[in-house]
Amino acid sequence: MPVEIPTFKLNNGAELPVIGLGTYARKADPGQFRKAVEDGIDAGYRHIDTAACYKNEEVVGEAINNKIKQGVVRREDLFVTTKLWNDRHGEKDVIPSLKESLARLNLEYVDLYLIHWPMSVDSDGKDMKLDFVETWRAMEKAVDAGLTRSIGVSNFNEEQLTRLLQQAKVKPVVNQVEINPTLTQHKLVDFCKQQGIQPVAYTPFGLISDARPEFAGKDVIKTDPKLGALADKYGKTRAQIALKYLIQRGIVVIPKTFTPSRMVENADLFHFQLSDEEMAVVESYNIDHRCVPGLPFKNMMNYPFTELL
Ligand SMILES: NC(=O)c1ccc[n+]([C@@H]2O[C@H](COP(=O)([O-])OP(=O)(O)OC[C@H]3O[C@@H](n4cnc5c(N)ncnc54)[C@H](OP(=O)(O)O)[C@@H]3O)[C@@H](O)[C@H]2O)c1
Repeated sequence: MPVEIPTFKLNNGAELPVIGLGTYARKADPGQFRKAVEDGIDAGYRHIDTAACYKNEEVVGEAINNKIKQGVVRREDLFVTTKLWNDRHGEKDVIPSLKESLARLNLEYVDLYLIHWPMSVDSDGKDMKLDFVETWRAMEKAVDAGLTRSIGVSNFNEEQLTRLLQQAKVKPVVNQVEINPTLTQHKLVDFCKQQGIQPVAYTPFGLISDARPEFAGKDVIKTDPKLGALADKYGKTRAQIALKYLIQRGIVVIPKTFTPSRMVENADLFHFQLSDEEMAVVESYNIDHRCVPGLPFKNMMNYPFTELL
């Protein structure tokens, strides 16, 4: 039986499933992406996160359309997110870029279109220094044109959001940023919530994940007995505790996995509740460490991060 994943209501009334399937992988063949999305939909995932820069929109779209044809889901049951890459921030480039994404996905609309990063960077890696407020104007037009149901941002800091909110006609529905037990982001999460912007956590495992061997040595959370004991108490894994911690904070999570059993595991979070003391145990792993610091953009005008570990 597919799992039932609850939703959070966005500021425009749309319902966003609190667990989505991440689809980024540095190395994977198209068949792996297709299978992951098909397995995810079979497992009960209705929220799929992709991006133009993941170079997998075609196969993600194939998987979605296969599942619609098979009668497993209807288009309106799904919440599909894709993202505008940094080299298409020019006001005249946004709608063509979204149309190209829709053509690759073979969908008539997406549910959410995000500005992937606040910086604009040309295809040679040069800082274009465009104002994201201008980019946002075109994002707003994409809603009017029916190409996307909602618009939002990713990797925006508080100052950037404040400026955007002062100028926007359409408020961003989400800010998708890295949040996990090793980067808890309380200040930004609180600000987003005050403004009615839903925080969405990418890389939700942080240093729990084996996917990032480059952080070996900083990954005590993988072996720390306190977290192990907490997981054992509920008959869950460390990964599930990390996801539950985020959802209990009112944050949407988009874990990526190609492993069907982990898809089920990552969505099996609704029959237990962490106490305040247990939430504090998870909090205690925070070291403000960014797994995704966007270092190639570090010296650019709209680079969003100041604290880096
Ligand atoms: N907006 C942005 O700038 C941005 C940046 C980064 C990511 N994202 C989005 O966020 C998604 C998730 O982030 P991410 O892919 O960086 O990291 P993640 O979801 O934190 O970690 C993915 C890794 O964790 C493993 N994993 C998944 N479930 C597990 C479990 N239950 N137990 C143990 N290991 C598990 C996966 O392995 P297997 O696949 O082998 O199972 C994979 O290697 C991305 O796929 C993408 O959609 C957005």
